[in-house]
Amino acid sequence: EMMKELLGLSSLEKELEQRLGVPKVIVVSGDSDENDWVKHELGQATSLELSSRLKPKDVVAVMGGTTLAAVARMMTADAKNREVVFVPARGGLGEKVENQANTISAEFASRAGAQYRLLHVPDQLSEEAYSSLILEPSVQEILTIIKSASVVIHGIGDAETMATRRNSKVPSLQKLIDNHAVGEAFGYYFDENGKSIYKQRTIGLQLDELDQDKYVISVAGGHSKAKAIAAYVKNRPSDVLVTDEGAARSLLDL
Ligand code: BG6
Repeated sequence: EMMKELLGLSSLEKELEQRLGVPKVIVVSGDSDENDWVKHELGQATSLELSSRLKPKDVVAVMGGTTLAAVARMMTADAKNREVVFVPARGGLGEKVENQANTISAEFASRAGAQYRLLHVPDQLSEEAYSSLILEPSVQEILTIIKSASVVIHGIGDAETMATRRNSKVPSLQKLIDNHAVGEAFGYYFDENGKSIYKQRTIGLQLDELDQDKYVISVAGGHSKAKAIAAYVKNRPSDVLVTDEGAARSLLDL
């Protein structure tokens, strides 16, 4: 804490809380676009925040991405986590295995000494496949657990970066550019006013289900994500935002 004062991070946190309307902002030093170790710092800060909130029977829904993978790696085992259940918040979004919510949720659980459940849903679901899959009893069972989550942890991405990384044909990059998409989270793409302009079709938590009962922890760093973060919190202000100095300073310059 004293170190944070010295580095001026505490005042950055206060300014961002006001500017973004997010009750709690945590800023770690550095810029994850420039140095890889900064993601570990984001991971550590987020893992501490999560661990301090976890209650014995919580269900925690997590998303994918390299930042969330870093958070999972920093979790530590605790006896009070034995009945905590980690689940992916949504089904496949076209990420590599190590970046998928399923993989990361299992990693969270094994590090934290908790339980996990998988959601087996392929990427790029057609309308027909989607409609029949959600009727499967095994899918419905896990969906019920996912929707009961009390804590949700997710990353935020730059819209173009995410569409390219997921190699998505739908929405096309051109469509996103035409609609001025700047950010992406949970497979939803946002414009700078926080309006959702496209969502990838998959099973799991929908944005409008992130009601006030759910404690939402958003983790995203790097100056290149400033616009994306600003856009996302206009849609559904996070309960906690964990970010880095690079993103924080760029956010205040927007
Ligand atoms: C994931 C989210 O958690 O993280 C995505 O599902 C988000 O919506 C992505 O864009 C960001 O990935 P990364 O690798 O930059 O942490």
